[in-house]
Amino acid sequence: MKKKLVISTGAGISAESGITTFRDAGGLWENYPVMDVASADGFARNPALIHEFYNARRRQLFEVEPNAAHRAIVELEQWYDVNVITQNVDDLHERAGSSSVLHLHGELMKIRSIPHPERIYTLDRHNCETTVDSRDEYGDPVRPHIVFFQEAVPNIEPAINLVSEADIFVVIGTSLVVYPAAGLLEFVRRGVPVYYIDPHPAQVPGWVDVIPEKASVGMAKLVKCLRPE
Ligand code: OAD
Repeated sequence: MKKKLVISTGAGISAESGITTFRDAGGLWENYPVMDVASADGFARNPALIHEFYNARRRQLFEVEPNAAHRAIVELEQWYDVNVITQNVDDLHERAGSSSVLHLHGELMKIRSIPHPERIYTLDRHNCETTVDSRDEYGDPVRPHIVFFQEAVPNIEPAINLVSEADIFVVIGTSLVVYPAAGLLEFVRRGVPVYYIDPHPAQVPGWVDVIPEKASVGMAKLVKCLRPE
């Protein structure tokens, strides 16, 4: 049976594709107040702004492609049971060909009904802009399928389960400041190898093997180290 390799990714893995991260210099949260465009209160205050913000991010998504780091994760599927847990709302892991991707913070290309949150719709690339007037097939208003600040993270339980079953755990391109995602490290079993690829890594416990490189370079190194002889 293949070993279970669990890979947790943040905005840094998509940086080389051309998607700006949130907290680096020039990052998204410098230009957009996070509590206006990505919080439950912000959506209640000014939903039009949030629709516009995510429309713009969808448009940007069509201009970018998965990069070598996304592809290296797919390459590892030859030898490992690879499970990606991502904080990213882009679809670059899926477009690279990853077969198991769990999104912690929602998905840019999905919207959901406001009164019936279980009704989730995948947007068509050619018709993917929403406004406060957008309605689903039942006539109900919709919102981006994004986990806003101040909201629960429904996929954290399956993510914790994956991490606690991991034989190898890899973290890529995250500042490790947003919880509960940042807390996933705590669920790794004792003795399991843990790698963290990030050019400006956050403080992590000593048992984490830090690879201070950008994602493409760090992943190339890691593939060399993890591929069987
Ligand atoms: P951040 O913007 O907080 O952190 C990005 C991380 O990527 C930093 O540690 C950078 O050093 C690293 N980085 C930059 N370029 C890189 C590269 N080429 N290769 C690898 N790493 C690189 O992004 P996240 O930690 O993902 O949530 O942010 C977590 C959450 O905060 C996001 O999911 C988002 C945000 O608010 C929501 O919007 C709900």
